[in-house]
Amino acid sequence: MNANIPQDKALDNSLALMQEGYLFIKNRVSRYQSDLFEARLLGQKVICMSGREAAQLFYDPELFQRKGAAPKRIQKSLFGVNAIQTMDGQKHLHRKLLFMSLMTPDHEKQLADMVATEWRHAQKRWKDKEKVVLFEEAERVLCRAACDWAVIPLAESELDERAQDFTAMVDAFGAVGPRHWKGRRARTRAEEWIKDIIEKVRGEKIVVEKDTALYQLAFYKDDEGNRLDAHMAAVELINVLRPIVAIATFITFAALALYEYPAYREKLKDDEAFREMFVQEVRRYYPFGPFLGARVKKPFTWKQCDFKEGQLVLLDMYGTNHDPRLWERPEEFNPERFRNWSGDPFAFIPQGGGEPEKGHRCPGEGITIEVMKATVDFLVHLRYEVPEQDVQYSMNRMPTLPNSGFVIKPLH
Ligand code: HEM
Repeated sequence: MNANIPQDKALDNSLALMQEGYLFIKNRVSRYQSDLFEARLLGQKVICMSGREAAQLFYDPELFQRKGAAPKRIQKSLFGVNAIQTMDGQKHLHRKLLFMSLMTPDHEKQLADMVATEWRHAQKRWKDKEKVVLFEEAERVLCRAACDWAVIPLAESELDERAQDFTAMVDAFGAVGPRHWKGRRARTRAEEWIKDIIEKVRGEKIVVEKDTALYQLAFYKDDEGNRLDAHMAAVELINVLRPIVAIATFITFAALALYEYPAYREKLKDDEAFREMFVQEVRRYYPFGPFLGARVKKPFTWKQCDFKEGQLVLLDMYGTNHDPRLWERPEEFNPERFRNWSGDPFAFIPQGGGEPEKGHRCPGEGITIEVMKATVDFLVHLRYEVPEQDVQYSMNRMPTLPNSGFVIKPLH
């Protein structure tokens, strides 16, 4: 037992985690007035921590490793088994460079333009529709754009099923039971589909340009000069496609923000700098990723707490983005807070912290921001009504979403 930090008294906190969801760590950090505490989760002692200093510590590769941190059930639904999220050291950095090389500003812009085009196509399809569910539309728009951008062949007849499979993998992360199994089946289908395409590219049955995600994943060689086997290449290509489709969640929250704070609509029409601030505030304010896990690589002491080798440590993403020491009135939605923001990589961590090329921080933040900006631009120029519906979102369902998926009535 760690005598110097608060201990949560419960025999096991797994139930409390399900009940409190995104607020589980934050609630205890404020109750104990401590950046860290120890709790029992899923049968093991876990250190939970929150805030800027905790984030900086968590991203020290000398102290923490990812090996053994992500449970197999998360790997079999969300990440893919033995994928980049579970790697450490040189091997990780080498593979990370591959991901970073796909996310240049030109590539980001190219994808955002494709997303904007797909929104215009979607708008044409809405001509004979009374109402549309924005989350579902975003899922389709993003899946189509992601596949076109990565040059993955995708027939129109497959689009809905493939898009829903990507969503199901993400939807499984906080789930047990049917939602988890749905995610696993979705992953199996997607891995078979993409593996087949990788094999065709390697066998020159599909010819693709070098400067594309499909080519780069198919022919990537690891730090020892070996190609990934076709299955692993598929897993990593899905690590590009799935999260692009997952931007649908932030898009739905952006639409909710436009509805809840309509005063911003006009300003968003022609002020691009403000559009970026708005998108950043959506990523800070609304819940998506709850926390991250890593294991202690070698024993050390921090804030009088002994971190034992192999111990699981959780970093509170949601709570850090709502930490009152870092964000003035954190429970207020206020894009202006990003006007002169310092850019501190450990204070704002909706997609992880630190530097992406040196650690595990998400390489797709630029893509996420550009795609969201393109979509907000589309939405503020679109004429629509928001019919009566349940736009509440749960704080204990992970991942969460407005209950209605955000229904709009396009005006023609
Ligand atoms: C990692 C969130 C979009 C690709 C991560 C991590 C988070 C995250 C929390 C883990 C950071 C860590 O382990 O320290 C999100 C969210 C997104 C998003 C909320 C918006 C929907 C994207 C996009 C891409 C992407 C658009 C690619 C096109 C990845 C990859 C990793 C990752 C490959 C693993 C990085 C590593 O382990 O080194 N993301 N992400 N993500 N993300 Fe994203």
